[in-house]
Amino acid sequence: MPQSRAKEKTIFFCTSCGNESGKWFGKCPVCGEFNTCSEEKVRESVKGVKRAAVLNEESTPLPLSKINSEQDERIKSGIDEFDRVLGGGIVKGSLVLLGGDPGIGKSTILLEVARNLSNDGRKLLYVSGEESLSQIKMRAKRVGNFSDSLLLMTETDLSVIEEAIEKAAPQLVIIDSIQTMYSPEAEAAPGSVSQVRASTATLMRLSKTKGITIFVIGHVTKEGNVAGPRVLEHMVDTVLYLEGDRYASYRILRGVKNRFGSTNEIGVFEMTGSGLSEVPDPSGYMLSGRPEGASGSVVAVSMEGTRPILIEIQALVTRSNFGMPRRTAVGIDINRVNLLMAVLEKRIGLKLSEYDAYVNITGGMRMNEPAVDLGIVMAIVSSYKDKPIDDHLFCFGEVGLSGEVRSVSQADQRIAEAHKLGFDKCILPKASLAKLSKESSSGVKPYGVSFVSDVVKLF
Ligand SMILES: Nc1ncnc2c1ncn2[C@@H]1O[C@H](COP(=O)(O)OP(=O)(O)OP(=O)(O)O)[C@@H](O)[C@H]1O
Ligand SMILES: [Mg+2]
Repeated sequence: MPQSRAKEKTIFFCTSCGNESGKWFGKCPVCGEFNTCSEEKVRESVKGVKRAAVLNEESTPLPLSKINSEQDERIKSGIDEFDRVLGGGIVKGSLVLLGGDPGIGKSTILLEVARNLSNDGRKLLYVSGEESLSQIKMRAKRVGNFSDSLLLMTETDLSVIEEAIEKAAPQLVIIDSIQTMYSPEAEAAPGSVSQVRASTATLMRLSKTKGITIFVIGHVTKEGNVAGPRVLEHMVDTVLYLEGDRYASYRILRGVKNRFGSTNEIGVFEMTGSGLSEVPDPSGYMLSGRPEGASGSVVAVSMEGTRPILIEIQALVTRSNFGMPRRTAVGIDINRVNLLMAVLEKRIGLKLSEYDAYVNITGGMRMNEPAVDLGIVMAIVSSYKDKPIDDHLFCFGEVGLSGEVRSVSQADQRIAEAHKLGFDKCILPKASLAKLSKESSSGVKPYGVSFVSDVVKLF
């Protein structure tokens, strides 16, 4: 058989989308990003060398009825919040990417998963490309006791790692991190587009052919995306992000992509001296330390997947000293705040264009659900009028451009969660009120509203 020879070639990659080009570019012709061109050397096979195609058992087309679905088996990690985000446990043979800011706790959380699984007697391999074994041991001491079925190694060459996997035959492999890995097939330096892509492809092949679950840690860029090309996210089965305010102790694990479950679920953790511990009652945690009787503060309920979470929204509206009022939003899209302020100005005549406004979701959470609109509106109006809102009141509802308060889903669950925490008055869309079950209304006094003007009248 003819041997395929390889020749070196320079290719220009876009670090944002992974687009390849034969020549340098200032603006990527595919994704339109500027200054994302990265020059890398790759080996290319000499053209004209044909490989004989072999149809093996795995590549034979089969009808669905002939396929075994053993992949359904899920391994419980022993951390409920982690399993919840994965869609009910770790799927055998899946490739999971975990991204997050530096020092947020990526290595810690996976080490905790490794601890639980190794104590269950499962064989695991933890490969670190960025820390020495003694550094990992220091972290492991914080995290707890490990059994000997967890093996550790420091290596960056993927072909060596592949051999180690072959020898140790683990059920689960953790790669810390993909940016430090090096596949000899690609010439470029670790962390470059072609290298990250080649390394991920190798890991994907390993996980699919051997049925090993592989967790891969990925660094994130300034913008908060996993560093490396976007195609990386397409290649893996699941993408998780560990996020949170570095100065606050809680962390949120969020699914961005999941081939085996919903991506709406979040897991809430707290960073402690002994690692990341689960926060089973995030609402209580988020509301702790809430001021009483202060204007501009209201509690809203947002659904994060199947779980309602209560958050405090604060607004500070003060007269502007300049022609251009200042608007700042933390934890919520600033455009959403601008839009809601424009609605309040146009529909009920609040002179908000003469006021600065600062809106903040306390606890450092980020909320994207439209159901928090009503909370933002109430907080702004409360601060504008300098009238505090009842401490036992909560709200939810989406606000439209005409000032209408639109219904939102799962009103019953939202009310039940708030009731559990001692809230007994609720402002909600009239349309949702009509659909409320009898049990939900017991113990909670609901006020249905259909326009933002109805809300203002309550002050
Ligand atoms: N004794 C301690 N008590 C509380 N928190 C600690 C303690 N030691 C470390 N931490 C927390 O753990 C974090 C480091 O966790 P970890 O190394 O898992 O992060 P990482 O996301 O893997 O970081 P990197 O990007 O550097 O790999 C620190 O930023 C700190 O917040
Ligand atoms: Mg780390």
